[in-house]
Amino acid sequence: MQNKEKTQYTLIILKPDALVKSLTGNILTRLSEARLRIIAAKIVKVSREIAEKHYAHLKEKPFFNDLYEYFSGKTYGPDYERVLVMVYEGDDAITKVRKIAGATNPLEADPITIRGAYGRINKKGIMENVIHCSDSDESAENEVKMWFKPDDIIENIYPTKVETIRDYKIRTWA
Ligand code: PPS
Repeated sequence: MQNKEKTQYTLIILKPDALVKSLTGNILTRLSEARLRIIAAKIVKVSREIAEKHYAHLKEKPFFNDLYEYFSGKTYGPDYERVLVMVYEGDDAITKVRKIAGATNPLEADPITIRGAYGRINKKGIMENVIHCSDSDESAENEVKMWFKPDDIIENIYPTKVETIRDYKIRTWA
């Protein structure tokens, strides 16, 4: 019997090294091979707070500071202190994107994958592996909710609630 594909959502981050190396178009083209749909996208300046949430399981590691320097783009200077964050949707999206991205460690990744082709380990021992992609439905949900508000996503993919917040100030166009 054939395995049935299921709709999945995955959070993808093109990290600062992808932007420094001008790889954005190239990586999006590679990802398009998976025939998935982009349902959210934005450029974000990575704060220490969101880096600590995203890599919560690594926060106490001795290399976390160096990981943050890389992930925030501080390693590359102010012009590259940003990442491109996206949500992709489609059949087996998590598995398909991870296959195209390759193994976490660029030295172990198949050379024809994104990380194998473009990743490296820097002098501080940090894996500069170009792209982050969710590894399970559970982490995808956690990561999508961490990086996006419901209204930033063009589909209702997880349950939402409406809250009335008094004196809530927002910035709008003048
Ligand atoms: S673990 O240790 O297996 O739970 O780690 P994992 O969930 O695979 O994610 C590790 C992420 O941290 C990035 N990173 C490093 N991890 C460990 N050691 C070193 N030196 C290191 N450098 C970077 C690694 O790229 C993983 O991030 P993502 O964004 O998932 O690629």
